[in-house]
Amino acid sequence: MDDREWRRYLGDFHDTRPGVTEELLALAGEAPYTWLAEPLRPITGTVLDLACGSAPTRPLLPRVRWVGVDASPGELAYAAALGRGPLVMGDAAALPFAAGSVDAVCAAMSLQVLTPLDTVMDEVERVLRPDGVLAALVPARLGASPAGLLAWARVLLALRETGLTWPNPHACDGAGRLLAARGWAVVSSARRVLWLPMAGPEHTSLLLRGLYLPGTAPERLRYAQRSLAAWARPGRALPLPLRRVVATAPR
Ligand SMILES: C[S@@+](CC[C@H](N)C(=O)[O-])C[C@H]1O[C@@H](n2cnc3c(N)ncnc32)[C@H](O)[C@@H]1O
Repeated sequence: MDDREWRRYLGDFHDTRPGVTEELLALAGEAPYTWLAEPLRPITGTVLDLACGSAPTRPLLPRVRWVGVDASPGELAYAAALGRGPLVMGDAAALPFAAGSVDAVCAAMSLQVLTPLDTVMDEVERVLRPDGVLAALVPARLGASPAGLLAWARVLLALRETGLTWPNPHACDGAGRLLAARGWAVVSSARRVLWLPMAGPEHTSLLLRGLYLPGTAPERLRYAQRSLAAWARPGRALPLPLRRVVATAPR
């Protein structure tokens, strides 16, 4: 899929299932967003949440001047209904903020989806003050855990998919390299594996609602839903490998 097709798919996806990323990650407990927010807690100025979606980081950063931007009216309405804000509707590739006006950027599960990524990064570098902090959370490689590989193989087999796709796969495990190549100082790049319980059909159905599956036909999705619902049981879990990159902007 090219960038235009991805944009259309993502717009539709997030408008019709707002909050689904937060809901899915919440299966792993509060951990992913708490981990991401940690390096941003000491910030005293403005933190821009880039592609904030339902704004899960908002309650975790009560003392900063937080502002969320997202392109999806559905996600923003959902975040507003939860009392999270301020929120701005906007495109990450044309940020509606002045140059040097933010002290930190928080990018939760977003660098791998924002296109064109070079333009988005130009915009992040424009609005962020020199030496400002970026904390990004992205999907990471699965690793060698046999239980994890088997569980994901079961999911992918039901979907007849060979893997998961994103518009910017190089911004997943490669996020640190990508930033370093643009002159950022990478402070840390760490991988953590969280586990999503797959104890019953409510979990498998949330998983299938939360995955980007642009090439999966509706009948295949229905088959996968039935097949995974029958597989789910207490004790079953899917690994969710994540990478958190913390970096400071070029001067
Ligand atoms: C995987 S979700 C992450 C949402 C939220 N940060 C979270 O962790 O729950 C990706 C978000 O990117 C937003 N998005 C996609 N393309 C965008 C763009 N060009 N500009 C702004 N937001 C965009 C979507 O609307 C969606 O809310």
